[in-house]
Amino acid sequence: MKASTILNISFLQVVLNLYLAEAAIAEQEPIRLLTAKDIKVGDFETFSKVLFKLANKTKSQALDPTRAYDPINVRDTWFSVANYFRRADGFTKGSWDNPNIKEYWDEQLAAFNKGLAALLIPGERVQIPADNFIIEAIWYSADKVKKKRPTLIIGNGYDAAQEDLYHIMAVHAWALGWNALTYEGPGQPTVRRSQDLGFIPDRERVVTPAVDYVLNEKSDEVDTERLALYGNSMGGYLAARAGAFELRLKAVALNGGVFSVHDSYKAQLPNDPLEIYEAGKKEEFDQAALSLLTLNSTVPTSIRWVLKHGLWAFKTKSPYEFFKKIEQYTLEGITDRIDMPVSVADAEFEGFFKGEPQRVKDALGDKATFHLFSGEAGYHTQSGAFQEMTRVIFGWLHQTLG
Ligand SMILES: *[C@@H]1O[C@H](CO)[C@@H](O)[C@H](O)[C@H]1NC(C)=O
Ligand SMILES: *[C@@H]1O[C@H](CO)[C@@H](O)[C@H](O)[C@H]1NC(C)=O
Repeated sequence: MKASTILNISFLQVVLNLYLAEAAIAEQEPIRLLTAKDIKVGDFETFSKVLFKLANKTKSQALDPTRAYDPINVRDTWFSVANYFRRADGFTKGSWDNPNIKEYWDEQLAAFNKGLAALLIPGERVQIPADNFIIEAIWYSADKVKKKRPTLIIGNGYDAAQEDLYHIMAVHAWALGWNALTYEGPGQPTVRRSQDLGFIPDRERVVTPAVDYVLNEKSDEVDTERLALYGNSMGGYLAARAGAFELRLKAVALNGGVFSVHDSYKAQLPNDPLEIYEAGKKEEFDQAALSLLTLNSTVPTSIRWVLKHGLWAFKTKSPYEFFKKIEQYTLEGITDRIDMPVSVADAEFEGFFKGEPQRVKDALGDKATFHLFSGEAGYHTQSGAFQEMTRVIFGWLHQTLG
C-alpha cells in the first residue's frame, strides 16, 4: 500500500474501514488492498502484526542511505513510519501488559520526531505543567518572522494522537498563516503511557494551562483576538467543556458536536448487556461486556475496539466502571456558560456520535453555527476528506474572527 493512501486516516476511521472490510470479506468481494488482505477478520492481533510489518518495512526505507539525496522524501517517509506504527498500536490494548503498547509507541515518537525536525520550520515539542500532570504538546510556528498571528489549539478525543493532528489539521493551519499547538492530556496516547493517567472530564484543567503557555511563552507570535480551540472526534465534547471555562478563547470548533459521550456509547451496546447495565448489576454487566470482547464474538470489531480501548484510556478493568465514568462527559448544565461562537459539525454517516451534534446545536442556540458534512466528506471527522473539513472549519474561523 502506498504511504499516501493511509497517511491521513484517523484511528476511529481505520476501525470503521476494518469493519467495512469485514463486511466485504464476508460477502466474498475481491479485496485489493495489499495490506488489508493479510488481516484476519475480526482478529486484533493480525491487524497489529500486518501494520507492524508495513511500519518496519517503511522504516528500512527511511534508513536507506541511497535515498539520502532527497531529504524531503526521507522526512515524509519518517512521517509514514510514525503513522504505520500508530496504526499498528491501535489494536494492542486488549492486554495492558502487551509490550507492543510501549514498543510501537516509542517507534512512532522517534520516527515522528525525525519528521518534525526536518520541517521547514521545525515543530517544537513542549511539556506544559498542569495541576497534577504534564501536558504533552507540539508548537508549530506559522513563520520564521515573528509576528502576532491567528493561533489554533488543536486537540483529539478518545484515541488518536497529537501526531495525527499534524497531518489532519496543523499542516493546513500552517498553509493558511496560522500558528498551531497540538496537545494531549490524561487518557490520551502519550500521557496515558508516560504518566499512567486515564481521562479526566474537566478538560479546562488541560486547556487552560495550554492557553497560558501560548499567551505567555509565545506572546510575540499570538494574536489574542484570534485564538481558537478545535476538538476532533470525542474532542468535540472536550473542547466544548473547556470553552465553557476558558474565556480567553475567542472561538471553538467542534468536529463533531458531542453532548453526551455516555449516551453515544450506551446506544452501541447490544440489548441484553444494556438491560443489565441499566439495572445497575455491576458484576453481571462486567461479565457480559467482557464476553463480547473475545475473538469469536459476533459483536462488530468497531464496538469491541471501542470498549477495549476505552478500558485502557479511562484506566479501569471494569466495563461497568468505564460506563459510569463516561457519565460525567456531558454538556448538561454547561452549555449556558459557553460565551463564544461555536462551530458544530455533523457528518452524514456519523457512526460513533450519531445525533449528538444536533443536541449541542440545540443547547447552544444562536451561539452555534451548524455544518453538516455529506457525501465523500460524510464520515466521522471527514476521514479521507480532510481538505474539505479544514476548508470549512478555517472558512468559519476566518469569517468569525476576521
Ligand atoms: C524489521 O526490519 C528489519 C530490516 O528490514 C529486519 O532486519 C527486522 O528483522 C525486522 N524486524 C522484525 C521484528 O520483523
Ligand atoms: C474460534 O472459533 C474457531 C472456529 O470455530 C475455533 O477453532 C477457535 O478455537 C475459536 N477461538 C476461540 C478463542 O474461542
